[in-house]
Amino acid sequence: MKIVVAIGGSILIHDYNAKMFKIYSDILKDLSKEHELFVVVGGGKPAREYISVVRELGCGEAQSDAIGIEVTRINAQLLLSALGDSAYQKVPENFKEALEYSAFGKIIVMGGTEPAHSTDAVSAILAEYINADLLINLTSVDGMYDKDPNKFEDAKLISEIHASDLVKFLEGKDVKAGTYEFFDMTAAQMIKRSKLETVIANGEDPENLVKIVNGETIGTKVVSD
Ligand code: UTP
Repeated sequence: MKIVVAIGGSILIHDYNAKMFKIYSDILKDLSKEHELFVVVGGGKPAREYISVVRELGCGEAQSDAIGIEVTRINAQLLLSALGDSAYQKVPENFKEALEYSAFGKIIVMGGTEPAHSTDAVSAILAEYINADLLINLTSVDGMYDKDPNKFEDAKLISEIHASDLVKFLEGKDVKAGTYEFFDMTAAQMIKRSKLETVIANGEDPENLVKIVNGETIGTKVVSD
C-alpha cells in the first residue's frame, strides 16, 4: 500500500529527547519493507513556544505560521536522522518535491508547506497528491469523541464517522497559528472530496501504527459519504 502517516509533534518531541524518534523509525523501517511510506511530522510544543515568541514580537498570523512550519521541518529532519539510509535525506518543501523524491524508493518525511493550516492538512493533501491508499493520523488522543473527553467523563469514542459529519463538527473551530483543533478543517475537506480512507488514532502507543496497517480496528475511521 501507499500510506501517508501524520505523526503529531506532541508525540514525537514531548520531552525533548530521541526516544519516540527511535521507536517510530524502527517501526517505519519495518513497514517500508512492504509499503510505500510518506510521513508528515507536526511541530508540537517547540512550535507553540516559538510561535508565542513571534506573537510577542507583534508579528501576524502568517508569520507565526511560517515559524511553525520551520519547526515542523526541524522535527522532520530529526526523524530523517533516526531513519538514516532508509529515508530520502531531504525534507520536501511542497507536494511536488515529495513526489519527486519518492522516485528513489525510500521513506519520505516532510513537515509543513504553507501558512493557514496544520500538518493534518498537509498529510491529507499529500495523500490526494500521491493517490495514497490509506491516511493514518496519529495524535495524542484515542480518536474523535462525541464530546470533549477532558470535560466530560462519559465522553464516548466514535469508531466511525462520515467525512461530511467530520467537516460539520469542525465548522467554526479556531484556525490560529499553533492552536489547531484536534483535527484541521482543510484536512477534513480533503478527506471528504477525495474519499480518502483515513484512520485517526493515538500515536502515544507507536504499535497502533502497525495495528492499523494490519487492518485492526482502532481509533476513529473516517468513511466516505
Ligand atoms: P502542527 O501541524 O504541529 O499544528 O503545526 P498543531 O495542530 O497546532 O499542533 P499539534 O498537532 O497540536 O502539535 C504547527 C504550526 O505550524 C503552522 C501552524 O501555525 C501550526 O499550528 N503550520 C504547520 C502551517 O502554517 N502550515 C503547515 O503546513 C504546517
